Amino acid sequence: MTIQPSIIMGIILFLLFIKLVKKKNSTQLPPGPTPLPFIGSMIQLHQNKPIFRWIHKLMDDYNSPIICLRLGPSTHVIAVSCPTIACEFLKTQDEVFASRPDAISAYLISNNYRTTVLSPIGEQWRMMKVIVSENMLSSWAHKWFQPKRDEEANHLLCYISNQIQKGTLVNIRIASQHFCANVIKKLIFGKRFFGEGHEDGGPGVEDIEHISALFTMLRYLYGFSTSDIFPWLRWRIDFDGHVKIMRDAIKIVQKYHDPLIDERIQAWKNGARNEVKDLLDKLITLENPKLTPEEIKAQILELMLATIDNPSNAVEWVMAEMIKEPLILKRAVEEIDNVVGCNRLVEELDVPQLNYIKACIKESFRLHPYTPFNVPRLALKDTIVAGYFIPKGSYVLISRLGLGRNPNVWNNPMRFDPDRHLGKNGKQVALSDHELRLLSFSTGKRGCPGMILGTTITTMLLARMIQGFSWETPQNEQQVNSLIENHDNILLAKPLVLVAEPRLPQHIYPTI
Ligand code: HEM
Repeated sequence: MTIQPSIIMGIILFLLFIKLVKKKNSTQLPPGPTPLPFIGSMIQLHQNKPIFRWIHKLMDDYNSPIICLRLGPSTHVIAVSCPTIACEFLKTQDEVFASRPDAISAYLISNNYRTTVLSPIGEQWRMMKVIVSENMLSSWAHKWFQPKRDEEANHLLCYISNQIQKGTLVNIRIASQHFCANVIKKLIFGKRFFGEGHEDGGPGVEDIEHISALFTMLRYLYGFSTSDIFPWLRWRIDFDGHVKIMRDAIKIVQKYHDPLIDERIQAWKNGARNEVKDLLDKLITLENPKLTPEEIKAQILELMLATIDNPSNAVEWVMAEMIKEPLILKRAVEEIDNVVGCNRLVEELDVPQLNYIKACIKESFRLHPYTPFNVPRLALKDTIVAGYFIPKGSYVLISRLGLGRNPNVWNNPMRFDPDRHLGKNGKQVALSDHELRLLSFSTGKRGCPGMILGTTITTMLLARMIQGFSWETPQNEQQVNSLIENHDNILLAKPLVLVAEPRLPQHIYPTI
């Protein structure tokens, strides 16, 4: 049988057509606004603040769980709100997206990328991640530091009891943020306060200034500074003022950290100190690799930032949700009373059994994450994800809001419902979700190494508050107000302020 040349020609043309269609799809960027030459979508970016709300609106407008914005001549920002695509980025192609973008805020905080969270992939990141994971966040280190954390859990009760005795309301935001900061200061420096502290057990002016500077840094970190998009502007003009804000905040924190660190390095040098008692000692005495003072200082600042934001925000929101829905508070109290009873305080050893409490925290991570996006990742090479072309150098923003509030994943997503996370047959609740239906500790090479510490701090904070006190809205406050989210970020619009009453026998409460 002979085949007609015209049929052969037809087959060849058909195959060429298929190849062309395939090539077109694999070079197609995710949907997004058409960029202008050179500036891309920079004008819209500046017109649509807060940027995270604009990006989420674009995802809705394009009806797409993945979108692409081009900023400036060449920066592609890819935002993602569905778990399957998020898993492609953070699990299937983890190696490709294991770096961080260069941003002026990250550069300044990490003192030229000497640290773990903010550094691009490379030798420095690798070294610091091993040091942090093995020496500071390993299970033996966690055990070793338990007495220090216990002291802070007791201090929290004293602080709240003192507010009650003074007849003042309890500001849950202040109590939570300072608890987290006190824990990490105690672990790192072996002390709770940089100054004397307040006589009621609360922070003094120094610690208020310190924590406020840390939260300023968190607010501007990866804040789409114009010089991140046009790097030649970086050291020439502080277009949006971010550099000054960051530098001022870093200076404040250094004012408290650096003298302590320098003094301690000196004490080890001259033999005045010879026993490892805290994380600072640990960092100073490391051999092979030996850290420079600059590396120690930058890493300590970064660990402070990593510890204070998520736990305090999650607990403030849980408390607000519980006040709105007292049945949830009742179930949490019942769990603690069943597991612990009323004759001793809840301890860290109880954490594995406090599954309803952890489900409440996980629900808070889902519905009210501290930041709208995960810490950004950077594409190390051209690749294809979800059928779209992702160019080398793209910033990848996995949306914590988009995952946690995704109606295709969660039934009635805006409802605070801890029961969603309770396993069958009393299975322990973990705060992480490796399927990325919500993003708490994330996953993969750049996943959070502080999961045990983060889980412990958050659970102890909430459990101690709920076990130690009963909570109510002050009479003149309207309950509905307490659940309004800020427009510019996703924190509670007003700090949660409540009336507390002791609920345990007097002798159980520790005294300062
Ligand atoms: C509830 C508490 C915490 C939450 C929800 C949390 C969440 C996260 C997230 C989302 C990331 C980014 C992961 C990614 O890029 O995909 C991260 C990274 C990191 N976290 Fe945490 N974290 C918590 C507590 C802590 C604590 C207490 C520490 C240490 C003191 C810590 C240390 C780190 C470090 C060093 C990284 C950087 C990992 C890397 O880039 O290789 N975290 N964390």
